[in-house]
Amino acid sequence: MEAAIAASWIGTEPALDAMLDVFKHPRGGHLAYAITCALGSKSLREHWQDRPELGIAKLLKSASRDNALKEPPPGAGEAQFDSQKNLKVVRIGCVPERMRYTVEQFAVRTGQPVKVVFVNPDATDHNLLFVQPGALEEVGMAANAMARDPKNASGNFIPEDKRPLILQAAPMIGPTRKSRVHVLRFKAPKKPGLYPYVCTFPGHWVIMKGVMVVADDLADVDAMLAAAKPKVVKEWKLGDFETLNLRTDEQSLMRGMQAFAKARCTQCHLHSGHGVNLGPDLTRIGTRLKDEKLLRTILEPSHEINEKYRTWQFITTEGKVVTGFVAGESRKGIDVIPNLLTPDVKITLSRREIELRKPSTVSSMPEGLVDVLTREEIENLVSFLQNELPEHLRHGHGKHDHGKHERRGTSE
Ligand code: HEC
Repeated sequence: MEAAIAASWIGTEPALDAMLDVFKHPRGGHLAYAITCALGSKSLREHWQDRPELGIAKLLKSASRDNALKEPPPGAGEAQFDSQKNLKVVRIGCVPERMRYTVEQFAVRTGQPVKVVFVNPDATDHNLLFVQPGALEEVGMAANAMARDPKNASGNFIPEDKRPLILQAAPMIGPTRKSRVHVLRFKAPKKPGLYPYVCTFPGHWVIMKGVMVVADDLADVDAMLAAAKPKVVKEWKLGDFETLNLRTDEQSLMRGMQAFAKARCTQCHLHSGHGVNLGPDLTRIGTRLKDEKLLRTILEPSHEINEKYRTWQFITTEGKVVTGFVAGESRKGIDVIPNLLTPDVKITLSRREIELRKPSTVSSMPEGLVDVLTREEIENLVSFLQNELPEHLRHGHGKHDHGKHERRGTSE
């Protein structure tokens, strides 16, 4: 925030660059205000007003929207709740166009008072439900079922018949709703455990979720999380799947979608607008690859490599070997991402230092990702990838997001 304030005082082009950098970080409240003021200031405006490609007018608009995400003033009882010394305050936002919460994990002590400020600056509506440990799928499927009835389209997707499994529920908030902010105040459960929170808009619950860790002692939290991490089931080989039992009922497809997230496919692939586009968009992969062939690309990524996403090996004049995915090329040099699972770690090679460049035969998609899945989960994953979701769960995300997610690389 200090930097934002200083930037308008300095008023140079590098100061503007620094401000643009601030936009890559989470921002809210006072910071959003400082950014709006700095970018809108006369001294910085000079550097951007003739450069529409920077899109600053749009950034300013979104910053002022962030500013509009203030929580409503508390009533008397709420103010009293908020004044408790051991109050835990968590602000959970929605990452625009990503179908993710900004906070995917937080910890509280058993019985501790909790205030969750839920805000949604996204272009899509979302809600936020805290559910009993292990109840996520049951509540999610019930919300899916609600989508069959068009009457529910503008409802909150809080399945009433599952109330006993729901601890707390914030209604749908967002652009088509009354509000973009909702505050939940509650006492954390007395029983330690991992309590999922989730957006139950049909289909969202598989991806858009987080976990509230409730512990007697916060020192237990790491161990509780570690115990819940997916464990290796088996080092699956193609030979383990002589027969594939591909079921296409809704529950199997949703389980396949969950497996897609559990095996971390969403870290590199988009499907119907969900996930990250470091690898090919898999939304319509079933039209090209099916059954055993599709399974093979997952179990043996290097067997056949999609040309557009090939990895390259560079040998420098000093004999250094760098292998990875080409994230960008310019006259100055080449940005290489050695490991797509950590896409922020880039190596920049200057043209002059590159002696040799050749295609690598190893895919940048890691092997063994599905080893944390059971046979049934893998089969469901294949089913999910090669079949369309039932009509009532297709609500235009893919279409609406299409094209917005330019692939990060420019290697073609
Ligand atoms: C670390 C990044 C990364 C992860 C994680 C990842 N992939 Fe990939 N995937 C890629 C890249 C890059 C390619 C393209 C290169 C290739 O064909 O090997 C690819 C290719 C594919 C293809 C072939 C697509 C085509 O157009 O030919 C399929 C199918 C696929 N991945 C499925 C999956 C599934 C299912 C998961 C989760 C189990 C997964 N991937 C996880 C990076 C990843």
